[in-house]
Amino acid sequence: MNLKKLLFGSVIFFLFVASKTITTTDYLNLPATPYEYSVSLPNYYANNVNPIDNTPATNPITNHGATLGRVLFYDKNLSINRTVSCASCHKQSEGFSDSRTLSIGFAGGTTDRHGMTVLNARYYQRGRFFWDERAATLEDQVLQPLQNTVEMGLTAAQISERVSEQPYYNQLFINAFGDNSITNDRISKALAQFVRSIVSYQSKYDIGRAAVNNPNQPFANFTAQENQGKQLFFTPIPQGGGGCAGCHGTEAFVSARPENNGIDLTSTTDLGVGGVAPIRPNLIGHFKNSSIRNIELTAPYMHDGRFTTLEQVVEHYNSGIQAHPNLSGILKDANGNPIRLNFSTAQKNALVAFMRTLTDNSVATEARWSNPFCQTNLSFTGTINSGGFQSSNAILVQDGSSTQVQSGSTVNLVSGKAIILNPSFEAKTGSVFKAQISTCQ
Ligand code: HEC
Ligand code: HEC
Repeated sequence: MNLKKLLFGSVIFFLFVASKTITTTDYLNLPATPYEYSVSLPNYYANNVNPIDNTPATNPITNHGATLGRVLFYDKNLSINRTVSCASCHKQSEGFSDSRTLSIGFAGGTTDRHGMTVLNARYYQRGRFFWDERAATLEDQVLQPLQNTVEMGLTAAQISERVSEQPYYNQLFINAFGDNSITNDRISKALAQFVRSIVSYQSKYDIGRAAVNNPNQPFANFTAQENQGKQLFFTPIPQGGGGCAGCHGTEAFVSARPENNGIDLTSTTDLGVGGVAPIRPNLIGHFKNSSIRNIELTAPYMHDGRFTTLEQVVEHYNSGIQAHPNLSGILKDANGNPIRLNFSTAQKNALVAFMRTLTDNSVATEARWSNPFCQTNLSFTGTINSGGFQSSNAILVQDGSSTQVQSGSTVNLVSGKAIILNPSFEAKTGSVFKAQISTCQ
């Protein structure tokens, strides 16, 4: 959705006072029957992906649990000044990652590292999270950004308080957990369920893969270049390939453990896994990589977002690997030096073309993972109070191109919220009109 902030002073807009009773649907665009969050994955997931699922027996995905998690994930009330949600840094359109090199928290501060995708988080077998694996489980991880002083800035106690304040959570907790007790433990479980539900299995790769017995066979739906890239990706370095699948493996394209891939000669500012207490010198410079499915959507790349294109990433592996003391053995030659792939331009382009076959637009667009605070064609009754400005925390901003305002009908709004109209629209107090509105929290 293309939203644009309009400036005060440049528009005429109105404050409406609603007179109706607020219901959950006034805030949330949720289906009457919840979406399906535990879909059955393709057969070829059975061998090497299902066994590495980190879902604990104590927190299986349910449709109501993931629905609650979805609302929490998109709710800006969960940051101290109500400006940032999980989705501010894990954007659906950007493969649940962040196109900014470093993400920006509630007060404008930047995160220490590049925002990771949460796609396929479920398939990291070690079950640890963050680039340095400092979170022991996903259930532990999801409460950390809420309390991070740069990211969302709540205290532990404020988490459940903020959730309890919002009228729409009562029913969502009853649906998910059987009663309306709102605890951090349940918030963590629901968020983790939603995150684990975000998996990719509908890319061009998947269409090709479904038609063959093993991924090494050429895919009929691939171009020759994509098939060449696939072969380079899967073939080990000593056999003339790029050895990529050695660290970005299985059909989920995930790593089995943190590694050092030689992007730096030494580790100075960010020690990675080895820097998490207790300091482990042999793991300094090791980083977790989540999944490279949807990699085309998740630029920039690496824990510090240093590479902006996949071409740069491939060139790194081709010619740029540095002799970090903890460089992975896979990336060393027989003498212990960093390998040089010496690929031709055609080979490098083929690798990039292959990685693009992992793009799954369903992940970037499907409603079950989208912002439930976005609604279209809202219909509330209200009264125009006056022209002027409003400062509630939920200013709804609409891109002028998709806002249509027609005279002749009634306008509407949720109490305490206001709509800033298209700057080209002007009306006086007392006007009646109809707004075709698409709004997000
Ligand atoms: C201000 C930006 C920001 C916000 C808000 C934010 N994150 Fe993140 N997220 C990041 C960054 C940056 C990282 C990587 C940090 C690191 O590794 O040190 C990350 C990492 C993660 C990971 C780890 C993925 C992996 O494979 O290890 C998960 C899961 C995650 N975030 C989920 C969430 C959830 C759930 C929320 C909301 C409760 C949230 N994030 C809010 C920026 C953000
Ligand atoms: C020895 C293990 C290893 C091998 C082999 C390897 N990688 Fe990586 N890869 C990693 C690690 C670890 C990271 C994250 C490093 C960091 O951020 O510091 C990474 C990051 C990436 C990223 C960026 C991911 C992101 O989310 O930002 C891409 C793309 C990538 N690798 C592609 C490849 C390709 C293509 C090959 C083969 C030419 C390859 N890798 C070979 C370990 C490896």
